Amino acid sequence: MDELNRRRYLDAMGISLWQRRDLEFAPIPESSGEVDGRAAGPVGTEVETAEQPPLSSGNDTVEQMDWPLLRDAVRNCQSCELRAGCTQTVFGVGSTEADLLVIGEAPGADEDRQGEPFVGRAGQLLNAMLLAMGYKRESVFIANIVKCRPPNNRDPKPEEALSCEPYLKRQIELIQPRLILAVGRIAAQNLLRTDITVGKLRGRLHHLGDRQIPLVVTYHPAYLLRSPEQKAKSWQDLQLALSTLRSAEV
Ligand code: URA
Repeated sequence: MDELNRRRYLDAMGISLWQRRDLEFAPIPESSGEVDGRAAGPVGTEVETAEQPPLSSGNDTVEQMDWPLLRDAVRNCQSCELRAGCTQTVFGVGSTEADLLVIGEAPGADEDRQGEPFVGRAGQLLNAMLLAMGYKRESVFIANIVKCRPPNNRDPKPEEALSCEPYLKRQIELIQPRLILAVGRIAAQNLLRTDITVGKLRGRLHHLGDRQIPLVVTYHPAYLLRSPEQKAKSWQDLQLALSTLRSAEV
């Protein structure tokens, strides 16, 4: 992407006025308990997330599924109480050969209506963030920790995240992304099996599962809409993701 376009997309993210283009990534230690666009979560105890166990093995059948079977399984899933309260499942969208896999929390009202993740205001900001990195939305894959909308936009319960996990795990296996971008607290904490805050998880590289897939945590776009002063840090995270993706190319 040329510099003019990158600046346009940074404009769309709302960070061009004060973002130094040569800003180097540096981890920023934080103690605040800031969270993504949903409810405040537990303040974490420090654990070494890189050494956490991989995602649990889940359901053997799901582990063997191809894309059409997996889509059907998600569509027909009744494993937790969320399905009864949502309009439709939200499987995920994008390229099944994507280098970059974005994982959010759960469908909201717009996503529940349209059957696609990140289509509301937060989704528009996510699209701008991706474009600032040089990725069109359709060239990445976007999924959530849970495929059904929790009632009243509450956080997914741990047991709901767990029952949906085999689907996400299979999506990761089928895509084999070079990098996972976890947006927000729910995504980061569920993937990394930790209760450390996003503020402490962001700004450094993690690795997920047996394949040790590089994983970068950043703020949820809904949180960034409410706290635009955090966009500079998020841009640093996106730059870390980009440099990791580039180093994986060689
Ligand atoms: N927030 C998320 O985490 N995921 C969506 O799909 C929409 C909003």
